[in-house]
Amino acid sequence: MIWKTRITKLTGTKYPLIMAAFARHGIIEFAAAYSNAGGLGITTALTYELKDFKNALKKMRDLTDKPFGVNITVNEEGDKETYLKYLEVAINAGVNIFTTSAYQAIFLGKRIHEAGCYWFPKCPLMKHAISVEKAGADAITLMGMESAGNKNPFQHTTLVNLTMGKRLLKVPLIAAGGIGDARGFLGALAMGADAVCLGTAILTTEESPISRERKEERINTDIFTEDYHQSLYHRRFGGTRVPSPSIGFQNEIIPLRNMIENIVQEAELILKSWGFDKDEYSTLSL
Ligand SMILES: Cc1cc2nc3c(=O)[nH]c(=O)nc-3n(C[C@H](O)[C@H](O)[C@H](O)COP(=O)(O)O)c2cc1C
Repeated sequence: MIWKTRITKLTGTKYPLIMAAFARHGIIEFAAAYSNAGGLGITTALTYELKDFKNALKKMRDLTDKPFGVNITVNEEGDKETYLKYLEVAINAGVNIFTTSAYQAIFLGKRIHEAGCYWFPKCPLMKHAISVEKAGADAITLMGMESAGNKNPFQHTTLVNLTMGKRLLKVPLIAAGGIGDARGFLGALAMGADAVCLGTAILTTEESPISRERKEERINTDIFTEDYHQSLYHRRFGGTRVPSPSIGFQNEIIPLRNMIENIVQEAELILKSWGFDKDEYSTLSL
């Protein structure tokens, strides 16, 4: 089946799937595997020292001939000049899609647009999303409270973010938070997403750079305990230590390509079981 959304159109990927940003783990080999599997691989710039970043991007081109992007994660303590330097290296290397997070990154968005590239910021709150849309974002990742990574105490669920986002925003939306199987993928598209971001779900695949022990530990997470619930849905600013509930869908360590194919093929079977009999699934007219 051919998958067509505003995001596949803009990025040129086979599937409406975008890789999450991963501090320390967003290496080029992992991102290239995601791109080769049909999604938009994203390498997290700050995984590299600035002096090594240019070579890393050069190597990335040898690992994939498919579209890929770069994430720049802005935090409170970081300095603007350094983020802009990473951005400049990537622009000079020909990268044309950038995801930004987690704090205000409008200064990066401006430079990304000056260079003629696409800017996909990630937002936990609707008010952030509305403000980055005004600032010209080309697509917005809406991150629900199910997500791993940075949390905001006033975050809504992925379902509320997407269904409300579809009403309040015009730009293409990327759903993030708790998605890791075919039903979550289809559900997000039905709620109005133009693509889905996979974070926790792919961190236990073969290509993920975390250790085998940590992958197994994560796969064995019981998402139905009180402790788990309290660590994920804490109401503080800051990160979450536990994987998102999408770990519940991961039973074994498998190649990223297989994981993505499993999601897409099962989604196609579900669509068929609902009576959908076309060769193309398109949300372009919605
Ligand atoms: C280990 C780990 C590290 C992460 N590091 C970052 C980061 O550096 N920057 C960022 O914007 N998001 C980061 N995130 C959040 C993801 O990019 C993404 O928003 C989130 O994982 C999506 O939710 P999911 O885990 O339910 O798929 C991280 C997530 C994990 C699991």
